[in-house]
Amino acid sequence: MRKKYVIANWKMNPIGSREAGDLFRKIKSKVQKFRNVKIIICPPAIYLKQLSSSYSGNKIFFGAQNSFWEDKGSFTGEISPLQIKDLNVDFVILGHSERRENGETDEIVNKKIKKALGAGLNVILCVGEKERDDDGSHLHFIENQIRACLSGVSKNNTSKLILAYEPIWAIGKSSEFSMKPSALHQTKLFILKILKDVLGADGMKIPVIYGGSSEPTNSGELIEEGEVDGLLVGHESLVPSDFIEIIKIVNSAK
Ligand code: 13P
Repeated sequence: MRKKYVIANWKMNPIGSREAGDLFRKIKSKVQKFRNVKIIICPPAIYLKQLSSSYSGNKIFFGAQNSFWEDKGSFTGEISPLQIKDLNVDFVILGHSERRENGETDEIVNKKIKKALGAGLNVILCVGEKERDDDGSHLHFIENQIRACLSGVSKNNTSKLILAYEPIWAIGKSSEFSMKPSALHQTKLFILKILKDVLGADGMKIPVIYGGSSEPTNSGELIEEGEVDGLLVGHESLVPSDFIEIIKIVNSAK
């Protein structure tokens, strides 16, 4: 059975390294037994070194929430993908809607993806529409995002990509506002078709995960009926008991 992903996006939380350490300790103490999931924690970059150097196990991986499109130089405040890699961090989230909201375009995400892959990072590429409508224009929107973000990305890199489908209208709410599993399944199939078109047959092997108000109450159906390869979890990844419960559900999903 192919492993599923549970990825924590802590966003700009928590405030303080002590709290970050506590949160991570609570998670790591409970995850060793879950064999069918790959767990990736993406804290604010400022905590990456502290957390990754405090962990010597093989169950949890780390990711950054952003990286820049150049390796080094005069780019005040930016973080190089090489600097992330240097911390033994293997993943980076790129193109999150909360960054796009602040001006990040598909072209910028595309440049960042190429540099991150060049640095040896695995990329968790986020796409997703603001709203859905009956005539299906959200599908064109998703398609355009994927094509633009992956433009010029070599087919050799497919094993280093994860596609996170995060419809913006479902982010940061509660499970009752989350996406319905049947709609998720259809969207996943559509995304795979585009990935195949862009990257060839191996594009179909890219894990497609879902993000947007995943909670213990809906995680099972999102995975089993939505048939996605994992979840990108926001607010519930800050609540250790709920996050562990989500991991448990995904771990035992068929
Ligand atoms: P929520 O789980 O809080 O909806 O956030 C989803 C998300 O944006 C993860 O990247």
